[in-house]
Amino acid sequence: MIDQRLLIDKYGRELTKLRVSLTDACNFQCVYCMPEKRVFFKQKQLLYADEFYNIVSNLNKLGINEVRLTGGEPTLRKDFLKITKRLSDIPLKKFALTTNAYRLDNLLVPLATDTNLKYLNISMDSLNKKNFEAIAGVDFFDKVYNNIKKAKELGFNVKLNCVLMRGVNDNELVDFIKFAIDYDLNIRFLEVMNIGIMKAHFKQRFISSSDMINTIKEHGYTLSALKDEVDSTSFNFSLGDSGSIGFIASESKPFCSGCSRLRLSSTGFLRACLFKSSGYSIRDIPFEKYPEVLEQVKLLKPIHRIKHIEEPMYKIGG
Ligand code: GTP
Ligand code: 5AD
Ligand code: SF4
Repeated sequence: MIDQRLLIDKYGRELTKLRVSLTDACNFQCVYCMPEKRVFFKQKQLLYADEFYNIVSNLNKLGINEVRLTGGEPTLRKDFLKITKRLSDIPLKKFALTTNAYRLDNLLVPLATDTNLKYLNISMDSLNKKNFEAIAGVDFFDKVYNNIKKAKELGFNVKLNCVLMRGVNDNELVDFIKFAIDYDLNIRFLEVMNIGIMKAHFKQRFISSSDMINTIKEHGYTLSALKDEVDSTSFNFSLGDSGSIGFIASESKPFCSGCSRLRLSSTGFLRACLFKSSGYSIRDIPFEKYPEVLEQVKLLKPIHRIKHIEEPMYKIGG
């Protein structure tokens, strides 16, 4: 019998969501994330497809019911489709992917036909080709833009993530609102987080969600608050008949009190929080040991936002 309380922590949070990082490698070099000098894990350090399956399957038996694949860039894995197909055999309530969308053109159809992965969060920090390149460090605007459209056409549930930074892309805020309305998209504006290479530029680049909302209202848009899940990373607004926006204000309005997320690193390390490096390696442990490990991991979960972490975001899994 599964102990229903196993995934409930002492604050009453139900830790039923798992973010699974497939790799720390990425083919973009976003100014807020990827340092010029980077050291990625070696191939043999990364979990194999079958290991991801076994771990997620074991955790699912104990109550994990939502999985989001993250990176680095998860689609860089050569066995990406193999992993998603294997994980589709696990009875999850929701199976999702966060991606830069570059490699989606060859993946969307197989994903739609052969897997249960229906939710795509796509990073898109500029609607302007030149600015996109300045932020992402690669000239992939057209590909990303077309893949977003294709993903919508194929019926995926698509959200865009836009990290808004002062003096970098804040002049595009209203363009993004128009884009959300024109294409009936959900766009979430992220406060830049004080992590990794962003630490050096945080003060200069940070814009709070309140400032973003004021700017949007000054331009005459009406925002109607939507009802969000208790563990939502974002708070969301409808823009009227078409489109919606959200804000992920990890710095100014942390959402830890409702957090439901555990994290599995690409090397098989299970941890309780983005900002806490402690955890347990579950790469080689038998199912019988899982409850004990989960009890320990639960104890590591903070209720308040931890200010800093040494590890960079791309290694943790966003
Ligand atoms: P939905 O299921 O669509 O709500 O996805 P999500 O917002 O949980 O995932 P996504 O990968 O799109 O993450 C958006 C941003 O939220 C990224 O910058 C993540 O790093 C950040 N984020 C996700 N989970 C957490 C978390 O538990 N804590 C903090 N501080 N940030 C998080
Ligand atoms: N601040 C805010 N968001 C970040 N992401 C990566 N680094 C940062 C940061 N320093 C975002 C990416 C992606 C998501 C997984 O995390 O843009 O959308
Ligand atoms: Fe959850 Fe930690 Fe993020 Fe807070 S900072 S929302 S506890 S992962």
